[in-house]
Amino acid sequence: MASYSIKKVQPADAKAAYAFHQRISHDDPYVWQRTEQELEAQIAKGYVYCALDAQTGSMVGLCYTVFDAHALAWEIGGMTIDSTVQRIGLATALGVFAMAHLIVYQDPWNNNQRVLAHVHKDNPKPRALLEKAGFVKTRSVTIPDAYAPPKMRREKNGEVHGDEFEISPGGLLKLSSWFDDISRNNFKPVAATVTFLVEGETVDQMAEKLRKLAGG
Ligand SMILES: CC(C)(COP(=O)(O)OP(=O)(O)OC[C@H]1O[C@@H](n2cnc3c(N)ncnc32)[C@H](O)[C@@H]1OP(=O)(O)O)[C@@H](O)C(=O)NCCC(=O)NCCS
Repeated sequence: MASYSIKKVQPADAKAAYAFHQRISHDDPYVWQRTEQELEAQIAKGYVYCALDAQTGSMVGLCYTVFDAHALAWEIGGMTIDSTVQRIGLATALGVFAMAHLIVYQDPWNNNQRVLAHVHKDNPKPRALLEKAGFVKTRSVTIPDAYAPPKMRREKNGEVHGDEFEISPGGLLKLSSWFDDISRNNFKPVAATVTFLVEGETVDQMAEKLRKLAGG
């Protein structure tokens, strides 16, 4: 079984992360294309996560979290997995890792912040995963032409239409148990060996914090 490591992107790897983001999102009309400066800023804050092929070290997946101070909401976004390694659970594992960092280190609900994800209205791919992870579609959103990245698929009037998903604290128990199971390679939907590389503490310590926040 192929092996992957999942970790936070370090500033030294910002160029590789942007190259990956650009390669994957370039021809994908459903991914919100970030500029190099935007991605670098998120990396500097420690909010970007990647999946690496453990043998070659090459990047095969990326996602980030971003805080919208106006909406008082965190968003998990930019989830992209290299087409050669899709459907083996890497987005599931990377998403769980990113969400665990968000919940443990930002404590959003105790800070009156929501946790959201946005999906282009015509993109079917991430919906089942979000729903399985406890996100619920809450509303449709409209992005004005001038605000959306140039390559995103638009309506005739230039707007980009999407759906907003939100996860509630009730979804935490599942996230916590997925984190435990994936970190022990004991989660069937992930058909690969995945190692979570957590900074500054052990995976077990992080899992324990997540469990406590989930009330487990
Ligand atoms: C969406 C994406 C990140 C999923 O990555 P992945 O590693 O293949 O996802 P996983 O293997 O963890 O799949 C988890 C579940 O998501 C759903 N899913 C994954 N790919 C799907 C697809 N192409 N169509 C419909 N559902 C899909 C399935 O329910 C899947 O579970 P299953 O394989 O047991 O049926 C990947 O297809 C991708 O990078 N797409 C292009 C970019 C994109 O659309 N990103 C989302 C932007 S909001």
